[in-house]
Amino acid sequence: MTQIDVSLGERSYPIHIGLDTVPVLQDVLSRLGARGAVAIVTDSNVAPLYGAAVDQLLGEAGLWPRLCVLQAGEENKRLDRIEWLCGEFLRAGLDRSSIVVALGGGVVGDVAGFAAAVYMRGIRFVQVPTTIVAQVDSSVGGKTGVNHPLAKNIIGSFHQPIAVVIDLTLLRSLPDRELRAGLAEVIKHGVIADATLFAYMEANAERLLAKDLTALEYPIRRSCEIKASIVAEDEREQGLRAILNYGHTFGHGFEAAGKYARFLHGEAVALGMHAAAALAQELGLVDEAFVQRQRDCIEAYGLPVAWPEMPVDVVLEAMQHDKKAVGGALKFILADGMAHVIQRKDITEAQTRAALEAVRGGRG
Ligand SMILES: NC(=O)c1ccc[n+]([C@@H]2O[C@H](COP(=O)([O-])OP(=O)(O)OC[C@H]3O[C@@H](n4cnc5c(N)ncnc54)[C@H](O)[C@@H]3O)[C@@H](O)[C@H]2O)c1
Ligand SMILES: [Zn+2]
Repeated sequence: MTQIDVSLGERSYPIHIGLDTVPVLQDVLSRLGARGAVAIVTDSNVAPLYGAAVDQLLGEAGLWPRLCVLQAGEENKRLDRIEWLCGEFLRAGLDRSSIVVALGGGVVGDVAGFAAAVYMRGIRFVQVPTTIVAQVDSSVGGKTGVNHPLAKNIIGSFHQPIAVVIDLTLLRSLPDRELRAGLAEVIKHGVIADATLFAYMEANAERLLAKDLTALEYPIRRSCEIKASIVAEDEREQGLRAILNYGHTFGHGFEAAGKYARFLHGEAVALGMHAAAALAQELGLVDEAFVQRQRDCIEAYGLPVAWPEMPVDVVLEAMQHDKKAVGGALKFILADGMAHVIQRKDITEAQTRAALEAVRGGRG
């Protein structure tokens, strides 16, 4: 088992990574002084797989666990679920010193984390992420929240977990498409911060797609380290943390243009990274070989690099919506070499359109 520390002063916390790590949850909770009632928040897909085991584990540790099961799916990341969870916490007898365990993907982590952030003005929570997205991204960094019908992730809070327990064996049951989409974020970490990680992703697609857990350990650990160090420097996204949005300005456009049904988030990010590389090439920041190399890597994971049937205007329009929501110019994170990115706010609509045109049909 490996431990990574997220250094945030008094809000610092450890990330434990390994195989069959779930049992350390007992330890982690007892060292944190957990007593009495504890809530396990999970979803309807994860509960039948791992809910009973975690429930039993915490029961054996002398705690009184209450399993709170949300319906699975992004559409359940909404405010009324927070009210429901707070009711569950009350019925379970959680008080200010209690702990919430988030057992699931990013949806569970975001919802459970936000419920913990607001219940009794904030109680402690532990993340036990069960998807790649949650293990390398959402469980680290303290962003919690829910969607509003008009905008995603718009109601929320920064609330850091007190520990993250990553058990790679939980990935065995993860559907393939979710696995691939999660690995898009790992490729992203390589491009923004670590050429060695990127090269590893290029060389090991087959093993990672076969869920070779030994092969998965390094990219997941490295991703956590990268995200942890970025968050440690810029917890509230005043600057540096924005580099984690590489591929996301275009990506959010693809997600919205596909009505959040066509692409999984990671798939949209893969397309977005490809479009961002085309834009960087247009601006003279990278050469064609860079674009090709990143594209080959994305394709090796069965992730999309083309979207021939969707009009460019629909994506552009969806991206503009993002801009209105934040009330400023679109911000792009662009590579100017492997493992090096810059932020640009001066990109014109014509340049954005040209990048989209360049990659739309699968060329570029
Ligand atoms: N807070 C952050 O910093 C942050 C970062 C990235 C993403 N997010 C959020 O995370 C969410 C996406 O997360 P996600 O991709 O994990 O989606 P998800 O939580 O919806 O999980 C994907 C699917 O896999 C199922 N599942 C989860 N673990 C499983 C397992 N081990 N075996 C079998 N099935 C399993 C889930 O029930 C769900 O159907 C989005 O809401 C996004 O906004 C948040
Ligand atoms: Zn993302």
